[in-house]
Amino acid sequence: MERKQFLKSLGASAAFAIAFPCLHACSTDSEDEDGGNVPVPTGVDFTIDLSAPENAKLAEKGGFVLRNLVVVVQNLEGEYVAASQVCSHQGYEEVLFADVDGGIFYCDVHGSRFEQDGTPIYEKVEGVTSKPLKIFKTELNDNMLRVFE
Ligand code: FES
Repeated sequence: MERKQFLKSLGASAAFAIAFPCLHACSTDSEDEDGGNVPVPTGVDFTIDLSAPENAKLAEKGGFVLRNLVVVVQNLEGEYVAASQVCSHQGYEEVLFADVDGGIFYCDVHGSRFEQDGTPIYEKVEGVTSKPLKIFKTELNDNMLRVFE
């Protein structure tokens, strides 16, 4: 019996229960089922005005903004760090920052977690990715924060 026939014989709800967990969780680095594959930003060099209202979140520890496919963060130590918003796993631009475990970057598409230096630290499904997240440099001059490579 083929997989499709097998799932059909189980009924719609049972088939969904079996198939749904694998829509994202069973993918590998080389697969792209429904998106992703956004190129990791290169040639990054831009400046953020920390006094501008749209950047107010950067005034607080754990706050972050998204610019040019980069997640710019004031970490829990009060330092500015920046990482690619494009995940190193399958290229979804879903990377965000969370103030847990000392502050981490994460992507909930498949569950990847990264240290602030880009090192993968947690994988919801074993083997999701071992590729580091791209990290950018930051430099603060008065209220102007430069993000660059
Ligand atoms: S794209 Fe798979 S974990 Fe981010």
